[in-house]
Amino acid sequence: MNISIVGCGNMGQAYARSFRKYGLVKQEDLLLVLRSEGRRTQLEALGRVALSIDAAIGQSDLVIIAVKPQDFGGIAPALAAVLRPEQVVLSIMAGITIHRLQGDLRHQTVVRAMPNSPAQIGMGITAYATGTELNMRQTLMVEQLLNSTGRAVHLEHEAHLDPVTALSGSGPAYFFHIVKTMIDAGLALGLEPHVASALVKQTMLGSYHLMEHADRTPEELIQAVMSKGGTTEAAFKVFAEGKLGEALSSGIEAASRRATELSNS
Ligand SMILES: NC(=O)c1ccc[n+]([C@@H]2O[C@H](COP(=O)([O-])OP(=O)(O)OC[C@H]3O[C@@H](n4cnc5c(N)ncnc54)[C@H](OP(=O)(O)O)[C@@H]3O)[C@@H](O)[C@H]2O)c1
Repeated sequence: MNISIVGCGNMGQAYARSFRKYGLVKQEDLLLVLRSEGRRTQLEALGRVALSIDAAIGQSDLVIIAVKPQDFGGIAPALAAVLRPEQVVLSIMAGITIHRLQGDLRHQTVVRAMPNSPAQIGMGITAYATGTELNMRQTLMVEQLLNSTGRAVHLEHEAHLDPVTALSGSGPAYFFHIVKTMIDAGLALGLEPHVASALVKQTMLGSYHLMEHADRTPEELIQAVMSKGGTTEAAFKVFAEGKLGEALSSGIEAASRRATELSNS
C-alpha cells in the first residue's frame, strides 16, 4: 500500500505512527507532506518527507488530507492537479463536505471522516461517510487504516457526521472538563493534588471497564452506587437542581448545530 498524508500536525502524525506501528505501510511507501522544514528530521523516521504537493502524490493508493479546514483552499488546486481517478482521498477536516471536496479536488472517490484525539494513542473512534460507493479493495483499505487508530464506524448518511462531531469529535473535551471539575472539587475539599488526580483518573478508568464488563445499563450502574439517603443521592439532588443533565444535552446539541453551520458556510 502507498499512502500520502498532507498535513502532519497532531492527527496527520498520529495516522502516520499508527500505520507504521501496525506495519500497514513501509517507510518508503509513506509520503508526508509538510509546509516547513521544522519537523523534517523527526518525521523522516516514519516516511519520505516532501515540502510541497507534487506528482509523487499521484503514486499513492490513498491520500489523507489532515490540514486545518481553513488551509484546505490553499492546497486544493495543487492537489487537484496531481490526483488520479483511481486514488481514494480521505479527509479528516471538520466541516468540509464531500460535495466541496469533490468539487475543489475535481475527484469523485472521497471519504469524509471524523476522528477524535485518542486516535493519537490508537484508542480513537472514527466515523466516516463516502462520496461514491468504494470497491471492496478500497473499503478494506480505509477500514484497516482507520481501525489502526482505534475503531471505525461507517455512516450511511454524511449528515450524521454533525452529531458524530458533537459526540465523539468534541467528546474528549467534555470528558477532560468533567475530570478537571472533579479534581478541583477534591482540592477544594482539602485533598492533595496528586491524591485528587489519582482518585479521579482511576475512578474514570475503573468505571469505564465496569460499564464494559457488567452487562448493565449506565442507569442501572448509577442505581447500584446510589443508596437512599446516602452520599451519591445527595450529589445527584444538587446535579438535578443545577440541571446538569440538561446542560450536557444542550451543549451537545449546540455542538451539532455548529458543525452543521460550519459545513454549510
Ligand atoms: N485534533 C483533533 O482532535 C481533531 C479531531 C477531529 C478532526 N480533526 C481535524 O483534523 C485536522 C488536523 O487537525 P490537527 O489537530 O492535527 O491540526 P494541526 O496539529 O494544526 O495540524 C495541521 C497541520 O497541517 C499543516 N499544514 C497546513 N498547511 C499545509 C500545507 N499547505 N502543506 C502541508 N501541511 C500543511 C500544518 O503545518 P504547520 O505545523 O507548519 O502549521 C500542521 O502541521 C483538522 O482539519 C481538524 O478539523 C482534528
